[in-house]
Amino acid sequence: MPVAGIAALSTRFTMAFGNKIRDFHEKREKLLRGGSKQTVEKQKAMGKLTARERINRLLDKDSFTEYDLFVKHAVHDFDMGDTSLPGDGVITGTGTVDGSPVAVYAQDFTVAGGSLGLMHSRKITKIMDYALQMRMPLIGINDSGGARIQEGVNSLAGYGEIFFRNTMLSGVVPQISVILGPCAGGAVYSPALTDFVFVVDNVSKMFITGPEVIKAVLGEEIAMEDLGGARVHSEISGNAHFFDEDEEECFARIRKLLAFIPGNNSEKARVLKAEEPLADHGIDSIVPDDPTLPYDVRDVIKAVVDSSGFFEIMENFAGSIVIGFGRIEGRTAGFVANQPLEMAGVLDVDSSDKAARFIRFCDAFNIPVITFVDVPGYLPGADQEHAGLIRHGAKILYSYSEATVPKITVILRKAYGGGYIAMGSRHLRADFVFAWPAAEIAVMGPEGAANIIFRKEIMSSGDPEEMRRQKIREYRKKFANPYVAASEGYIDAVIEPSETRKYLVHALRVTENKEIQLPPKKHGLPPF
Ligand code: HXC
Repeated sequence: MPVAGIAALSTRFTMAFGNKIRDFHEKREKLLRGGSKQTVEKQKAMGKLTARERINRLLDKDSFTEYDLFVKHAVHDFDMGDTSLPGDGVITGTGTVDGSPVAVYAQDFTVAGGSLGLMHSRKITKIMDYALQMRMPLIGINDSGGARIQEGVNSLAGYGEIFFRNTMLSGVVPQISVILGPCAGGAVYSPALTDFVFVVDNVSKMFITGPEVIKAVLGEEIAMEDLGGARVHSEISGNAHFFDEDEEECFARIRKLLAFIPGNNSEKARVLKAEEPLADHGIDSIVPDDPTLPYDVRDVIKAVVDSSGFFEIMENFAGSIVIGFGRIEGRTAGFVANQPLEMAGVLDVDSSDKAARFIRFCDAFNIPVITFVDVPGYLPGADQEHAGLIRHGAKILYSYSEATVPKITVILRKAYGGGYIAMGSRHLRADFVFAWPAAEIAVMGPEGAANIIFRKEIMSSGDPEEMRRQKIREYRKKFANPYVAASEGYIDAVIEPSETRKYLVHALRVTENKEIQLPPKKHGLPPF
């Protein structure tokens, strides 16, 4: 071909190519904008970020790679055939947090209320499969009215596929759910199957049936916030693990959480530089001499962890137990501690659930469990018995017994009855148990015990009150100390409070390569 012919062809080709590129840019720009101008404005007016902004703020800068932007919705009834639903209402892809890979999806409320149709669900399940196969955490940002009504059983099928995968991923990779809008039906059941749920004040709503259905079925009016707002789920229901004032704070906290945990169950959490605790926590003076006086057990935790601090989980729910992560010599540990500030640190239905689930997370993801004990026992009363204290309380026994990660327990003060056994005792296979000199390890507290075993002496005495006081003193001297348990070998050492970090460092180093096997079985039956 003559040179002029080649040049003409090349120009035509360049123009065609240029047109295609332009066309591609136009199509992509349109899809990247998400919903209509009005729906985006409505989203903003509610103080919410858009789905794309959320992903960009959560992940490392420029690390997000999106998949399936051009996926089209699958519904053709209800005049929706020609409707454009950009990305079918969800953005999916992978990116990094602090350089580590994560799979992420964000539902786009500006597109059909983020409702979940078949293709929307396929986009999510594709990245769930990636997360499982590539062993990276999954983060789901939920802002959705649930199953897309127009798609009927296909949207239910979509949720079923998600729930199945949530279950398959459970214990293999960490799963994090963020609730950033009114989430109904399937949009809350999937989060309920994941490890950590984040909510934001005034933005997050979670419910199975919304106010309109409640009004229709029960004839009752209830505001969405009161039914399932962020405070409800972080303080009352226990469905949420983290509460934040705004979305930025929430994303910062997710990043912080990810720094404490490994990316999958075959790894250990990243080891940071070892640091000493912040100096201003005088551990010797935290626990009052009088065993009836409260103190904040978080001060004890802060006094032993590295200066990177204590990262508390579920801090507004079931306050009689404290759970969270801290580092010792740069390595992550999970802390479970009775909280004497709240109901004297008693175990009840909710605190049992809270602790048991956390222990199982730590066990699944190779995180040692450190337990601080100051527990008067399980909470007595008909309310708790009727709420299933036996079943819920048994979860702690099960979780500690089943956990094969290093388990280190420090008895700070009271360790009475079932509480003593449940809180990571030697009998549930703690690797190390230490006790402070003020520890009281007994079947029950001196007051209750003296009333029962010395009843006859007290009743027949000329001065029953004086006799009662004397018997309480006697009982306290004989049993309410750590030395009976130490003489049986149930605790390894009685230590001074100021020696606690040193002993924990030792125990963590010794147990670093711990390996034990549970009896072979398909699975056990924890008291769900
Ligand atoms: C289709 C939906 C939708 C849904 C919302 N939209 N939910 N479209 N299917 N499930 C659409 C609306 O029609 C509207 O479209 C847009 O999203 C925004 O919704 P609004 O109602 O205008 O917003 P708002 O007032 O903020 O109320 C949000 C809401 C409410 C509380 C989520 O929309 C609602 O109650 N939706 C239904 C919730 C529900 O019952 N879902 C089904 C759950 S059953 P336009 O075009 O007007 O902008 C389920 C089964 C799964 O999920 C299995 C569970 C085990």
